[in-house]
Amino acid sequence: VPSIFEIVESVRLYQSKGQALLYRFVGVVDAEKSAQGSWVTGESGRRYLDLGGFGVFLLGHQHPGVIAKVSDQLSRLSCSSRWFPTAVGAEAAAMLVSIAPPGLSKVMFLNSGSEAAEAAAKLCRAATGRIPLCHIVGSYHGKTFGALSLTDNPNFRNGLGPLVAEVHQLPRDGAQEAGQRIRALRPAGVFIEPIQGEGGIVEVPIETLRQIRAACSEVGALMVVDEIQCGLGRTGDVWAISHADVQPDILLSGKSLGGGVLPVSALLATSAAFGPYDHNPLLHTSTFGGNPLACAAVVATVKAIVDEQIPQKAKELGGKFKAILEELHENYADLFIKVSGRGLMLGLHCVRPDIAANYMQNCAREGVLLTPCIAQPHVLRVSPSALTTADELDFCRGAVGRAASLTRSERMEMDKYAR
Ligand SMILES: Cc1ncc(COP(=O)(O)O)c(C=O)c1O
Repeated sequence: VPSIFEIVESVRLYQSKGQALLYRFVGVVDAEKSAQGSWVTGESGRRYLDLGGFGVFLLGHQHPGVIAKVSDQLSRLSCSSRWFPTAVGAEAAAMLVSIAPPGLSKVMFLNSGSEAAEAAAKLCRAATGRIPLCHIVGSYHGKTFGALSLTDNPNFRNGLGPLVAEVHQLPRDGAQEAGQRIRALRPAGVFIEPIQGEGGIVEVPIETLRQIRAACSEVGALMVVDEIQCGLGRTGDVWAISHADVQPDILLSGKSLGGGVLPVSALLATSAAFGPYDHNPLLHTSTFGGNPLACAAVVATVKAIVDEQIPQKAKELGGKFKAILEELHENYADLFIKVSGRGLMLGLHCVRPDIAANYMQNCAREGVLLTPCIAQPHVLRVSPSALTTADELDFCRGAVGRAASLTRSERMEMDKYAR
């Protein structure tokens, strides 16, 4: 096995110099070898409690039900000829619809979150015959051209324009104004994450969600709810939008949808909104979209979400994780500003981005992995598995506390020299 230094050097040579620099900068001293449940094992033999994973591991790593279903599928048919439909594809669609918000009865399987956002943007225009699209301050919907056009982060967009035309940004906190802008613009669709992930774990006010729904209905615009990160039970409800009692026209799912085993995303829609794809199945296609292996993962994931009461577990465990983070905030007000989020989609807001990076490194040293919010680097994401055990929670409490104490003493030491 190559050493971590050789692996990072290979990344520098053959992949990205910047990525290699980033690994060095955040002090990566291990490579990922295997994972099971809440734990990642490095090539060094060290184990890390994974509270990050960009929100993919709601069921943990290598969930036995998902692995069994996918392994069985792998032994028979992984990529299909696409000449015939597959039983597993039909089963995955029916199962996903069975847990979808009321009225969302159509599914299109794709591979990544960005691809689902792309398909949704096209669907909005095709279904309404209109051009304008709206998104919200702080949004993240992906990095392909369409999805990027609906993403509010200049760092991802600079130098890439012109992006998709007639995209407008709506306020997140001004519900009335958001509604008025929609009435004036009469857009094809409005994209919104009920809880913004990359944007810093920010809950969009319920009033904004409701005003957007009302205005969309009034002018015949489609409301696209992006639950790629917050959906499938992570926030304590199967769908985060149900918290606001709002029905979307289109809903996007991804990340945890493959059970932490395979990449897969989905666009769900009402049959009215889905019309163009219903009538013309070639309007949006993807060679690997809905491949049998991915569909097997979806079947097992939905089964686990229902049978293992994942939303309920996320709610209960979320309260416990939040209490750990609140205590951390209380004891280390010099490092942390606040805790945000719901269920197992939590954000630990640090006083500065460099402190967030420093703290994240120290957590890894103590055996806990967190993820930064890319667009808000002072916020660290805590998105654990809903199957985290009481012992793992205890381990987390000790490790994040030790990491905070280490970070505080390092900061004090550095501040001495800065003076
Ligand atoms: C809310 C949301 N939408 C879309 C995406 C894009 O998904 P992907 O990275 O799979 O393309 C992400 C990814 O972080 C996301 O969090």
